[in-house]
Amino acid sequence: MALKGRRILIGITGSIAAYKIPLLIRLLKKSGAEVKVIMTESATNFVTPLTLSTLAESPVFIDPFDKRTGSWNSHIELGNWADLFLIAPVSANTLAKMASGIADNLLMTTFLAARCPVFFAPAMDLDMYRHPTTQRNIKIIRTFGHRLIEPKEGELASGLCGAGRMEEPEEMMKIISAFLEPHQDFSGKNVLVTAGPTYENIDPVRFIGNYSSGKMGFAIAEVMAQKGATVKLIAGPVHLPTPQGAIQRIDVQSAREMYAACTTNAAEADIIVMAAAVADYQPKTASEKKIKKTSHSLSIDLEPTHDIISKLSENKKPGQVIVGFALETDNELANARIKLQNKKADIIVLNSLNEPGAGFQSDTNKVTILDRKGNVKDFGLKPKTEVASDIADHILTFSGQAEQK
Ligand SMILES: Cc1cc2nc3c(=O)[nH]c(=O)nc-3n(C[C@H](O)[C@H](O)[C@H](O)COP(=O)(O)O)c2cc1C
Repeated sequence: MALKGRRILIGITGSIAAYKIPLLIRLLKKSGAEVKVIMTESATNFVTPLTLSTLAESPVFIDPFDKRTGSWNSHIELGNWADLFLIAPVSANTLAKMASGIADNLLMTTFLAARCPVFFAPAMDLDMYRHPTTQRNIKIIRTFGHRLIEPKEGELASGLCGAGRMEEPEEMMKIISAFLEPHQDFSGKNVLVTAGPTYENIDPVRFIGNYSSGKMGFAIAEVMAQKGATVKLIAGPVHLPTPQGAIQRIDVQSAREMYAACTTNAAEADIIVMAAAVADYQPKTASEKKIKKTSHSLSIDLEPTHDIISKLSENKKPGQVIVGFALETDNELANARIKLQNKKADIIVLNSLNEPGAGFQSDTNKVTILDRKGNVKDFGLKPKTEVASDIADHILTFSGQAEQK
């Protein structure tokens, strides 16, 4: 069972939807999870700490301090204890605090200190939900990598009808279980992922590089490993820790090294995802000594680097799926289609530099996925881990379609 022994921290705020949480706690306990609950002061008006502590079999945390005894509840410990922190329901007020880091209660200090994945499920009346500040706050919180459980349309406590109704406890259980024990869709598959920039040496102290952070490729490696794959992650020079799971990391520096690592490891891969931003050009020769400054202009002769994806496509083995990335600044879709054809890739993930919050360095991305079967799918701005899941899902669908042919 996915939830047996897993530690779920639930944060409850002042919304009428708090009445659903006792049922959620019952479901979690039944499936073997350990549950702790933090409430805001306001939440105690909607559901009693006694009900929650009885169902959770653990005292409920509300105040940071006990004035009588001088004891205090450690937000750090609570944040470190949890495998998953679910804040549900989240009021508009707490959403605003989460977006701006206001730490004026135990729930908020724990939120800021939590190292585990955070899910948040807003619940409010439809006008509060669609207010620009609420929408902006949700967008900001998602850019931190926290996962939104979107409210549903339906009858609201106010008697109005619309979006704002918190997801039902049974559905929230499914979301939590799927996250903590994802489907092992890639079990037995070898996946090769490239990530980050390349540095092309000009001399011993200078290079030609680019702004890629490696976050997208690392997120893909992480998600693939979570879904059961054995992953080789070929990483250019980045400052990122290797994600948890069955991931072997191979560090490279230049396009030449990236090419060598890819061609050596491609044959055993069932799926290849080329998320690295590999240099298109490299200096013909790198000076062995530091080039001295003079008053004259300086030209550096550049030559094209190997086209890794075309080479891998040329040697593609039956059933292998090759995914390329395209970062375009103009005629995006047309250029991505050309890349799909010219490079003989199966799938191209197009990200645009024109989208705020997407592309290099950012924790979020907005992509369009195209494949050679003619499927084109647009996605909204999302954390890179969610984009990685969308790419994984598309690979599965694409492979399924390929098998039927
Ligand atoms: C009966 C009642 C129902 C409420 N329901 C909601 C709600 O569903 N969503 C919401 O954002 N605020 C709701 N509020 C307002 C919040 O309780 C209020 O903004 C409070 O300050 C939230 O505090 P907290 O975020 O610290 O829990 C409701 C208030 C009342 C009196």
